[in-house]
Amino acid sequence: MANLSPTANNKLHGKVAIVTGGASGIGEATARHIINDGARAVVIADVQDDKGENVVASIGSDRCTYIHCDVADENQVKSLVESTVSIYGRLDIMFSNAGISGATSNQTVLDLDLSDFDKVIAVNTRGMAACVKHAAGAMKEGGVRGSIICTASLAGSRGLETWTNYVMSKHAVIGLVRSASLQLAGNGIRVNSVSPGMVGTPLIMRTCGVEEEEEMEKIVEKFSRMKGVLREKHVADAVSFLASEESEFVTGLDLVVDGGFTA
Ligand SMILES: NC(=O)c1ccc[n+]([C@@H]2O[C@H](COP(=O)([O-])OP(=O)(O)OC[C@H]3O[C@@H](n4cnc5c(N)ncnc54)[C@H](O)[C@@H]3O)[C@@H](O)[C@H]2O)c1
Repeated sequence: MANLSPTANNKLHGKVAIVTGGASGIGEATARHIINDGARAVVIADVQDDKGENVVASIGSDRCTYIHCDVADENQVKSLVESTVSIYGRLDIMFSNAGISGATSNQTVLDLDLSDFDKVIAVNTRGMAACVKHAAGAMKEGGVRGSIICTASLAGSRGLETWTNYVMSKHAVIGLVRSASLQLAGNGIRVNSVSPGMVGTPLIMRTCGVEEEEEMEKIVEKFSRMKGVLREKHVADAVSFLASEESEFVTGLDLVVDGGFTA
């Protein structure tokens, strides 16, 4: 059964959601949050099958399903959306969140590794576009006034000294959200993004070469102007808001969740 928190409310009552990259980090936390907020079901889509199945087991297979899906492959994304509609009858929320930092993120444009660039773009940009395309198609066909939320990043709206491929991939996500939001508004389908500051997920720990969570937290703390540590839960709160009717007239927004770091 889902582990309901004391703050559980019903703002996503009856909704059916897909969370890509839902086996770990921000996606996993958000999948749990969506259920806590009253959703009928959440589909975890990822390439880490064991981790994905573990999330299903802990949420409860009555409200959660795992589907293997490499978002870089459009056919797998199409089939993910079709399977969700076939199992649960509709799709209300797409949290398109799967992402990678790339093997050679620590690079400037002078030593850009273009084969790594292709891999990062394939997941972070192409994958995101496929998820928006097929989710929006299913929502339109089902007459659902759905909500699509993409995970962008602070790196989506500013340059960095390194991480060139990642910065480019996330800028494109914000472009996708802006265009898709105005193209789909007439169908009542909203498209927004969240841009987290630094959260100590497996992706960030790997990229920073950090093994201890405590050490990671000390680094993460420096990337917030508010006291404390930015956690997956804070991003999940923002996603849940954008997924719910509380943000009924909000579309095309990039919601920054970074404790004021870039304000
Ligand atoms: N952690 C941060 O500080 C931070 C900040 C800004 C943005 N982000 C973004 O947040 C998102 C989630 O990252 P996270 O930090 O939770 O990392 P994470 O590594 O914990 O989770 C990412 C998940 O995406 C999955 N994934 C990777 N490639 C995939 C593919 N091709 N198809 C399907 N699933 C795939 C992974 O298996 C993993 O479960 C990413 O888009 C990342 O760029 C993270």
